[in-house]
Amino acid sequence: MLEISTYIWMKILESTPSRYDKGIRILTLGKIDKIYDHLTSYIKEGQKVLDIGCGTGALTLRAAQRGAEVKGIDVNPQMLEIAQKRARERKLSQKIELHEMGVAELGNEKTNAYDVIMSGLCFSELTEDELIYTLKEARRILKPYGLILIADEVISKNIPKRFFTWLIRIPLIVITYIITQATTRGVKKLSEKLEEMGFVLEYIKTNKMEDFIELVGRNLKKE
Ligand SMILES: C[S@@+](CC[C@H](N)C(=O)[O-])C[C@H]1O[C@@H](n2cnc3c(N)ncnc32)[C@H](O)[C@@H]1O
Repeated sequence: MLEISTYIWMKILESTPSRYDKGIRILTLGKIDKIYDHLTSYIKEGQKVLDIGCGTGALTLRAAQRGAEVKGIDVNPQMLEIAQKRARERKLSQKIELHEMGVAELGNEKTNAYDVIMSGLCFSELTEDELIYTLKEARRILKPYGLILIADEVISKNIPKRFFTWLIRIPLIVITYIITQATTRGVKKLSEKLEEMGFVLEYIKTNKMEDFIELVGRNLKKE
């Protein structure tokens, strides 16, 4: 049940970045830590990794701890400040580059630049056009056979589950809008979109309500 409304409370938490990490951990009953530990277990030492919508660095720090060189991008400077502080505290600053940058600027990244692209709870904040653009660019900037690692809120294909989710979300959407002036959406057909873009899905896991997904995709483009 708690997972259903995670996204909405997450938007509220983002408006107070200092409380974001604690809040998200409570909301997901600690599940987000396990999910992120699992996703980053695909990362190897020395790899070049991009974290899209890195926020306070949950995935960025994990990847750097595994010995990767990580670039974290985010549009929210307050979230980035916290990520920077955490990187310094863990003596990982050498491995981490943080940039105030939106997905719209991914076009400036070099082709075949990254071994891994990851994103946690950010795709659900993008518009449909931004998401499609991000996936296209991800495919271009990933090396051949590179991995995309995603954890995010999605819209279930199961109509009763979807109805139940919306029933719970509607009052939360109103509260979120009042507090943050932000709208909310789960990602539609994320796995299909990845496949259409040419990623081969190697791992997919959804929760019981089918409104949260963990995905690992491989970029099988030619060298
Ligand atoms: C819910 S937070 C997740 C942060 C982090 N990935 C985590 O899992 O803790 C979503 C993040 O995506 C960022 N974001 C939203 N739209 C973005 C965009 N267009 N480009 C880059 N980052 C964006 C937000 O600023 C926010 O920090």
